[in-house]
Amino acid sequence: MAKAKYIAVAGKGGVGKTTFTALLLRQLVSQQKGISILAVDADPNANLGEALGLTVTATISELLEQSKDPKAIPAGMPKNIFIEYKLQQSLVESKDIDLLVMGGPQGAGCYCYPNDLLRKYLETIGENYDYVAVDSEAGLEHISRRTIPHIDCMFVISDSSARGIRSAGRVHDLIRGLKSAVETIYLIVTKSTEGSMESLKEEIERTGLTLIGDIPLDPLVVEYDLAGKPLFDLPDDAVSVKAVESILHRAGIFN
Ligand SMILES: Nc1ncnc2c1ncn2[C@@H]1O[C@H](COP(=O)(O)OP(=O)(O)OP(=O)(O)O)[C@@H](O)[C@H]1O
Ligand SMILES: [Mg+2]
Repeated sequence: MAKAKYIAVAGKGGVGKTTFTALLLRQLVSQQKGISILAVDADPNANLGEALGLTVTATISELLEQSKDPKAIPAGMPKNIFIEYKLQQSLVESKDIDLLVMGGPQGAGCYCYPNDLLRKYLETIGENYDYVAVDSEAGLEHISRRTIPHIDCMFVISDSSARGIRSAGRVHDLIRGLKSAVETIYLIVTKSTEGSMESLKEEIERTGLTLIGDIPLDPLVVEYDLAGKPLFDLPDDAVSVKAVESILHRAGIFN
């Protein structure tokens, strides 16, 4: 079993998954010196790198697509070795965090073989890190296909609308239906304003999800988003940063 703690962030489009994942990573880096962290962007429309201020050159899907062309494989090199080499190449390394970007679906054809290798790769790579944090895509493909082997803690994100909460409830049902190894699931409500938590109370209860906290609508997040600034650089006293810190403490994420 990999030693890393696997954390996944799920929820429908636009609710604040990438924002929360970036703030979670920011918190892990600032609270625990010297730990190793792998971030995985599993959204086909990848933008976690941007939120972290990291430059991504190639996605895993792009690199795997290249391995389908026999001419791209050096003479005498077995295909599996070539794919493993490509997977290693796709890792973006930085001082605090390494990043893997899955990328979107590529050309037609079966991906079973590369997916098998990707699964093994993610399983073994976990042994090199203390935390693996996954920004999931809305459809949870990688979790249902088990490309991501095991999840210790999943955060389902909803915005502050009743429709958002109902949608989080459906994500919850989907995860339970998968019978996959997700140990703990929590709900986080984002972009909350005065009174929104009170008005959503009944809707939240109906989902059966455990609410671990809310992240208020933060003008600084809006500002950084507009200016294209990495969320990683938000000040310690930003309301969103403080909210994420207390959520992570409550969820027992810090070792
Ligand atoms: N706490 C917050 N305060 C203010 N704005 C926020 C907050 N959380 C998220 N946002 C804004 O909401 C929008 C969507 O957020 P984000 O990109 O994190 O969502 P997502 O779930 O990752 O979306 P996608 O499904 O497209 O990947 C962004 O413009 C982001 O800046
Ligand atoms: Mg996102």
